[in-house]
Amino acid sequence: MKRIPVVDTSCIHAGTMSFAKYKKTIEVGDTAILLLGYDNMLQLMIEKDKIYQTKYGALRCNELIGTRYGRRVQCSKGWLYVLHATPELWTVTLPHRTQILYATDISMIVFQLDLKPGSVVIESGTGSGSLSHAILRSVAPSGYLHTFDFHAQRVEKARQEFEEHGLGHLVSVAERDTCKNGFGLECVADAVFLDLPGPWDVLPFAKQAFKAEGGRICSFSPCIEQVQRTCETLEKLGFTDIQSLECLARTFDVRTVNMPLANLGGGVDIGVEGDQSGSLHQPCIGHIEYDTGGRDAKNTKKRRGDGDTPDGSTEDGASKKWSDGGNGGDAGDGRTKMSESASFVFKTAHPPVQMPGHTGFLTFATLYPD
Ligand SMILES: C[S@@+](CC[C@H](N)C(=O)[O-])C[C@H]1O[C@@H](n2cnc3c(N)ncnc32)[C@H](O)[C@@H]1O
Repeated sequence: MKRIPVVDTSCIHAGTMSFAKYKKTIEVGDTAILLLGYDNMLQLMIEKDKIYQTKYGALRCNELIGTRYGRRVQCSKGWLYVLHATPELWTVTLPHRTQILYATDISMIVFQLDLKPGSVVIESGTGSGSLSHAILRSVAPSGYLHTFDFHAQRVEKARQEFEEHGLGHLVSVAERDTCKNGFGLECVADAVFLDLPGPWDVLPFAKQAFKAEGGRICSFSPCIEQVQRTCETLEKLGFTDIQSLECLARTFDVRTVNMPLANLGGGVDIGVEGDQSGSLHQPCIGHIEYDTGGRDAKNTKKRRGDGDTPDGSTEDGASKKWSDGGNGGDAGDGRTKMSESASFVFKTAHPPVQMPGHTGFLTFATLYPD
């Protein structure tokens, strides 16, 4: 039988590391990501003879060099994984020099700015370079990023990191106050991104920087007043399709819930064995456990959930079994009736009561050719 490859591995190669493509082997000079557990990652530089201390014990770079990314490494007190760096993993492990943008906003920015290989992008300010890495991967191998910040050390550090991450040839990092002096670029950009306290001052310069065929612009601002002022200026300058949005990531906790069954009188028909689609109502996302217990137990079908343990209790200790209070039984037609004390256990997903999520608003607009 012919096998169809699921993953295109043509971009996997050995050589200098790059955040824009994968390679197989860990080498000196690579920036690698250590996965120590859920939500626990670190980035480190692979250096000869270097030993890093982790919560699982010493990690010797010499033992990693020449081995494959993705491997599990045994340390004295536990194990961890060594992963190839990506812009997403960099965002959650990078050294913060400023507030940064996270994957939720970044994904929307890359999508809405229509970034693709070959795109030319202007960004201000560079900050910690979190967004810049994602832009660079999107525009590689033939695009370019011009990024600006007026803070000298941030500019220097970003430049160094882009080089270390194999992206230096795709980016220029300039120290410049873009609100006062603009970008010094005309007719080069397909897209412009602004993460500045006063983006409206830069918008006239941004307009000059677009290619003759126009392009897309995005401004990130934490306050709605900044958004309003940005929108007004965009409109005055002739930008169209102006749209502001907020990206909120919603997390849901999975819980096992034990809920008493409503007594509707006369027992509840739960259908025949082998026909569980009968008249039993499923009140929300999840699955229902059947077990009448007592004398009908052996005739009643039961579905097991993920949290099942061999003794029928759930992970959180709740009993999974239907309870019929001793009154349930065969209805005489092969169907089973449930009585008033019945309860059922199911899994459900629900959001936390409080969900902090606001980072800021993204305002997008289009500049069409004159
Ligand atoms: C919040 S940070 C940007 C974070 C970046 N988007 C990231 O994901 O890492 C804002 C940056 O804009 C820079 N900045 C503020 N005003 C500026 C201006 N007028 N010209 C250039 N850079 C400016 C600051 O120095 C700061 O580094």
